[in-house]
Amino acid sequence: MIDTDDGHLPDLIAEYEEKGWCRSPYRFTDPAVDLLRDSLDAVCRRGGPEVVHERGSTAVRAVHGCHEFDEAYATLVRHPYLLKLAEALTGTPVYVYQFKVNLKQAREGRAWPWHQDFAFWNAEDGLPRPTAVTLAVPLDDVHESNGPLILVPGSHRLGYLGPGKITPGGNGDWRKNFEADPEHTMEPGRARELVTSFGTERATGRAGAIQAFHPNIVHSSSDNASPDRRALLMVSYNSVDNAPPHPTRPEFLVGRTTDQLKPKWDERFALEAG
Ligand code: SIN
Ligand code: MN
Repeated sequence: MIDTDDGHLPDLIAEYEEKGWCRSPYRFTDPAVDLLRDSLDAVCRRGGPEVVHERGSTAVRAVHGCHEFDEAYATLVRHPYLLKLAEALTGTPVYVYQFKVNLKQAREGRAWPWHQDFAFWNAEDGLPRPTAVTLAVPLDDVHESNGPLILVPGSHRLGYLGPGKITPGGNGDWRKNFEADPEHTMEPGRARELVTSFGTERATGRAGAIQAFHPNIVHSSSDNASPDRRALLMVSYNSVDNAPPHPTRPEFLVGRTTDQLKPKWDERFALEAG
């Protein structure tokens, strides 16, 4: 493992506070990415309630909570650098609130409308505050055409903008929120205003990159019409003192083990300068 130099953290924290997202100067090596891809294949083959398909298709759209049963993903979420980064960006000890991989299959992967993650987490789970961070690792190269995340930089500083459309108490069907027309999205006119004021940035990058996203940053992504899959692994770390008091969604969507996660080094998950 490259000995990550903590000297980069103050600049990264400043960028994250300014824009609501940032890219680490480190990435996972190609062999590490291969292991994470192998796990994704195994999880998709395994099936089960954690796996969501594109509507009307057998194409897998997303898998959830796999760090609870897949050994490589369980090791990844405890990676010392990921934990250090999550703790630096939230300023608190953290645990895994949510783990998912969104696959955006070539030509079949559908869009995600404009939203703030905190809108879902607050409405669905009662997450009290946005003191969480999502660390994302692309498992494929992400380019302009395979459906990168589109961010509105600085929008997180407006805070939680409230639900655009909401069924009070949710509609009781969590699966709907992982299909192409979820609840808790932003009203398109409001999103357009924000895009006009703040502009947009795209989270493109090599497989293995490490990116961080604030729960209140406004973001979306478009359909993947390209021949290249865009699998994006996302670990949402939450402050240990911010656990939802009475979560009802399944455990593979809302982590119930809320003690501080302890780091575990594993040489298979080496980093290199990104
Ligand atoms: C998300 O907003 O949580 C995911 C969007 C995407 O995978 O493109
Ligand atoms: Mn999101």
